[in-house]
Amino acid sequence: MSDTKITIDTEYPIGRINPRVYGHFAEHLGRCCYDGLRPDPSLEGKVATKNGFRTDVIDALRAMPVPLLRWPGGCYADHYHWRDGIGPAEQRNVTLGMSCGLKVEDDNSLGTHEFMWLCNYLGAEPYLAGNLSSGTVQEMCDWLEYCNTPLNTRLGAERRANGAPEPFGVKLWGVGNENWGCGGNFDPITYAHEYRRYATNMRHVDESAELVLCGHTNEWNVDVLAGMGNQLGLVDHLSIHRYWIHGGPETAFSPDEYYGLLAEADDTENFILQTDEIIRDALGKQNSGKRTIGIALDEWGVWHPEAREWGPGANSRLPQTYEQAGTLRDALATAAALEGFHRQCNILTLANLAQIVNVLHAPVMTDGDRMWLTPTYHVLQMHKPHVGAKALPVTVDGGESTPTGSAVTATASRSGQGVAVTVMNRHLAQEAAVVLAGIVAGAHVKATVLTGENAAAVNSVDAPEAVALHALDVATVAGGYRIVLPPHSVATVIFG
Ligand code: AHR
Repeated sequence: MSDTKITIDTEYPIGRINPRVYGHFAEHLGRCCYDGLRPDPSLEGKVATKNGFRTDVIDALRAMPVPLLRWPGGCYADHYHWRDGIGPAEQRNVTLGMSCGLKVEDDNSLGTHEFMWLCNYLGAEPYLAGNLSSGTVQEMCDWLEYCNTPLNTRLGAERRANGAPEPFGVKLWGVGNENWGCGGNFDPITYAHEYRRYATNMRHVDESAELVLCGHTNEWNVDVLAGMGNQLGLVDHLSIHRYWIHGGPETAFSPDEYYGLLAEADDTENFILQTDEIIRDALGKQNSGKRTIGIALDEWGVWHPEAREWGPGANSRLPQTYEQAGTLRDALATAAALEGFHRQCNILTLANLAQIVNVLHAPVMTDGDRMWLTPTYHVLQMHKPHVGAKALPVTVDGGESTPTGSAVTATASRSGQGVAVTVMNRHLAQEAAVVLAGIVAGAHVKATVLTGENAAAVNSVDAPEAVALHALDVATVAGGYRIVLPPHSVATVIFG
């Protein structure tokens, strides 16, 4: 086993990793919001709650962390009418909630005020997805006014009467969701024209609102930006979604599918770069010269065949729950994607892992009154030192290869607390010895590693610690610090 050398350039950061890049997504889909964030009524008295949210779940999320939270959809947003979710809970109507083919009776007990309370508790910035599909310009403007106005208008007074004297100050507003599909089946030009109407009026209500235009494929993105004409100033972020769907079965995957899923996660960076090129091109054509448009990857993650009825190998469990096993492989794919997010921190302005509890690539799962953390939870927690830090360039030399590239990859950042380096050993069978060079350590060096018996290892209600964080030895050697990573593992070393 020859050593892999990772050299960290602590002098010339790439840029700042916006905490928004570590965002999450809570949709009223399956058991995400109801039963996940808030207990099912059958659990009354069996699980502790704070303001109607499961204490076990929200305390775990608070420690993860969750700097940004998008709600209420997804496709759910396309049917959501915010007025249904305000006012005294007992007076709220049960409405028909719809997303991804599921229909639910939504008692609207999780509405705007409850969501804001949750964000406040988690330390998350709220990101609201507005309804452009079945709503109106006025409805979206009213929601914005209700949330943000400091004035004593009818809507401002109503918010105060409902218990929020101060404006919520919601900056981020999605003007629609997947409007190429569930959000109205628009063509890009028609949607762009609709967006202009919404965005113009929303800016009148609150000029500081950051507005998110719905993107999709490269082709759509070219067209939708062209459809904005000389009004690109109305766009703060362009939304793109990327689900990894080519990794074969959730747990019974082959080595090729293992490496394939990690490569698909890596490829998210290319999609970000392509999107950036399209944005630059559009801004250049418009010749505004004064604005940039950020990239909002506001849904990303693994979507296994067992949780979908579309795409390669679709083999959904029925009835559909959108739930899937979250393996160590998925956690490694998360770490792979985060390397790219850090490298592209100057153009990727926010990102939301889909979704936050129980559904799809969830870090937290519940079963009745019990809860457990998936390997992805641990990976996200290991990345905590990178949140808001300055991304540093790294170079990787030597070591083993896998069918899709170097076995060892890394990302690093610098903050007031020191330098943090997260290193992956993607190899399925071999350990990796890694020397970290270029760092002058302060008083302490601390390392943790995440791995499991095999890449398909999962945590479950009965074995919640099968994949857990462990301390990792760091040896001081000539020219740096040496760690030895087990196969299929990821480690973070903090130099304080
Ligand atoms: O996250 C599940 C669904 O995936 C969302 O509702 C939708 O936006 C996307 O298609």
